[in-house]
Amino acid sequence: MLRFETAGESHGECLVATLTGLPAGIPISLEAVNRELWRRQQGYGRGGRMKIESDRAEIVAGVRHSHTIGSPVAIIIRNNDWKNWTEALPVEDADGAEDKRKPVTRPRPGHADLAGAIKYNFHEARYILERASARETAARVAVGALAKALLGEFGISVWSHVIAVGGVRLERAVEWDEIAALSRRPEVLLGCVDADVETRMKEVVDEAYRTGDTVGGVFEVVAHGVPPGLGSHATWDARLDGRLAQAIVSMQAVKGVEVGCAAEGAASFGSHVQDTIHYDREARRFTRGANRAGGLEGGITNGQDVLVRGLLKPISTLRRPLESVDLVTREPALAAYERSDVCVVPAGGVIGEAMVAIVLAQAFLEKFGGDALEETRRNYDGYCLQVQNF
Ligand SMILES: Cc1cc2nc3c(=O)[nH]c(=O)nc-3n(C[C@H](O)[C@H](O)[C@H](O)COP(=O)(O)O)c2cc1C
Repeated sequence: MLRFETAGESHGECLVATLTGLPAGIPISLEAVNRELWRRQQGYGRGGRMKIESDRAEIVAGVRHSHTIGSPVAIIIRNNDWKNWTEALPVEDADGAEDKRKPVTRPRPGHADLAGAIKYNFHEARYILERASARETAARVAVGALAKALLGEFGISVWSHVIAVGGVRLERAVEWDEIAALSRRPEVLLGCVDADVETRMKEVVDEAYRTGDTVGGVFEVVAHGVPPGLGSHATWDARLDGRLAQAIVSMQAVKGVEVGCAAEGAASFGSHVQDTIHYDREARRFTRGANRAGGLEGGITNGQDVLVRGLLKPISTLRRPLESVDLVTREPALAAYERSDVCVVPAGGVIGEAMVAIVLAQAFLEKFGGDALEETRRNYDGYCLQVQNF
C-alpha cells in the first residue's frame, strides 16, 4: 500500500513528507523532483512569498545511489522565510515570547481561520492558517515527483494545463503533445497552451491586481499511457474516479472536480456524450470515438488518457479585505491581510498532477504489487500480454 503524509507550518522550519510502499529499484533524480517544485512556484499572479522561497527537496531516507531501496522515503523542504519567524513561532516558549507572536484575530472569509479557531479552541487563527496554507502542497509535489518516477518506468506521464482563469476559457480541444511541451517551458505565464487565450487570461489577473481582488479558474490534469484496468467497479471505495476526485478536492481552494467533460455531459443528450466503441483488427485493439469520459468507465481506467479537472475558487486573502469580526472584541472589522497570491491556477495544475500521480501509483501498485521494480515489471508485462490476447 502506497501512502504518504506531510507535516510542517507555512512559516515553520521546513516541510516534511514521508512516502511508504514504493518498490525498491526506482531511479530517482533530485533534479527532476526540484524541477517539479520549481513548476509549483511559477505562474503570473503569485505573491511575494514565492520570491522568498526557492524550494529544494532534501531526501534524507529511502533513496540511496539514485534508487529507492524499499524503505520509507523521507523528504525535507526548508522554508527560507523561517528566519523571519523564529521568534514568532518558536518550538519552546521563552520569557517575553508572548510579545513576539503574530496573532490573526480578524478571520478571512473563505479561509480556514474561523472554523479552525473554533474547532481547536484558539482565540486567534495563527496556528490554523500556518497549516491550512497551501505551502503544504510543496511537500505533496515532492511526493508526486516520486510517484511520477514509478509511473514513468511504465510509460505513464502526468502533466497539466490551464483551461480557464476567471471568465476567460480555452474553448478548443488540446493535444497531448501541446500539454507535454508546456511542462518543458523555461518560463510560465498562465499555463495555457494557446498564446492568445493566455494573453486574455493575463488581462483578468491584471484587473484583479488593479482592484485588490483575486481570481480562480480551472486546470486539467492529463495522465497519458495509463493501462486499462486500474481501479474497480466492484466497491464504492475502489472506484478510481471517486479516489481521484477526493485527491483533487483535498487541495486547498479546489471546490469542484470534473472527470472528463462532466459538466458538458450533464447538459447534453446521451447520444452526444458516450465514447463510441470500435475495433481495429490489424492492431487487434479496441478504439474509441472520443474521450469525453476522461479515460474512466465504471471507476476503471479504459486505456484512454485520464482527464481530471480541478475548479479553483479565488484566493480568500484580499488586498481589499472583506467584512469580518474581530475574535477578541467581537466588533465588526475588515479581514486580516497577509502577503498573498492573486491567481494560482497554473500552480494548482502542478499540485493536481502530483495528486493524480500519487493516486494512479497507488492503484498501479495495488494491481501489480512488487517489492522490487523487476517484480512489478514482470507482473505488469504478464498483464499486458493478457490484455493483448483478450
Ligand atoms: C497554490 C495555492 C496557493 C495558495 N495561496 C494562497 C494565498 O496566498 N493566500 C490565501 O489566502 N489562500 C491561498 N490559497 C488557498 C488557501 O490555502 C485555502 O483557501 C485555505 O486553506 C482554505 O481552504 P479551502 O479554500 O479549501 O476551504 C492557495 C491555494 C493554492 C492551491
